[in-house]
Amino acid sequence: MPTMGALHKAHGELIRVARERAGKDGEVAVSVFVNPLQFEPGSDYERYPRPEEHDEEFCRRHFRGVCTVVAKLFNILQPDIAVFGEKDFQQLAILRRMVRDLNYNIELVAVPTVREEDGLACSSRNAYLNQDERKQAPVLRRALLAARESGRKTANEVVELVRKIIGEAPLARIDYVELVDADTLQPTSLVKPNSLVTLAVYFGKTRLIDNIRLG
Ligand code: PAJ
Repeated sequence: MPTMGALHKAHGELIRVARERAGKDGEVAVSVFVNPLQFEPGSDYERYPRPEEHDEEFCRRHFRGVCTVVAKLFNILQPDIAVFGEKDFQQLAILRRMVRDLNYNIELVAVPTVREEDGLACSSRNAYLNQDERKQAPVLRRALLAARESGRKTANEVVELVRKIIGEAPLARIDYVELVDADTLQPTSLVKPNSLVTLAVYFGKTRLIDNIRLG
């Protein structure tokens, strides 16, 4: 179960799933490696485990770095299964593709997003939020739930609703809100059974992500 450390309750849940899947004769390996390849130069690599230090931004599409480090871990450990969280849906989709393309005989297990009581997805980066930002951050979950419950059928309508609800939180600054196909991550214009609403929103300098399946 690969991690970048700063372990929180969600990591604990993934470890629990790995433990369960490994069974009594299996072993679970948890790696802790803050992987410089997936941070842009000058991003939060330096401060990653020390939230109080000054802010810089995390690179959002540095997945070559993720694939490299996960492939190395796979090669070293040759595990039967590897456990990843659905919060990082893009990462999961890319690793599924890597497993297919490189013919790894490894089962990827996806664990549903683990949340705080108010709905905010657990993340090491939540520690960067100040009190006001933390108070407003659950708006992401509320907006995604509203999108699912609305029964809206087009990407435009769904995205509009999510943007409107998030817009009510004055400290939120939207990076993107998109309706995508959960397998390909390509944008789709209509809601289908495997549609996913994904978003990234800044609170101050902290970029939070979340997603929800529709249909
Ligand atoms: P990290 O952010 O430490 O996350 C380790 C694992 O925990 C990932 O599979 C991630 O999806 C999962 N996770 C984090 N928060 C979660 C939440 N709220 N609910 C469910 N799962 C959650 O993701 C990475 O590290 C790195 O990119 C890594 C895969 C270790 C490669 O360096």
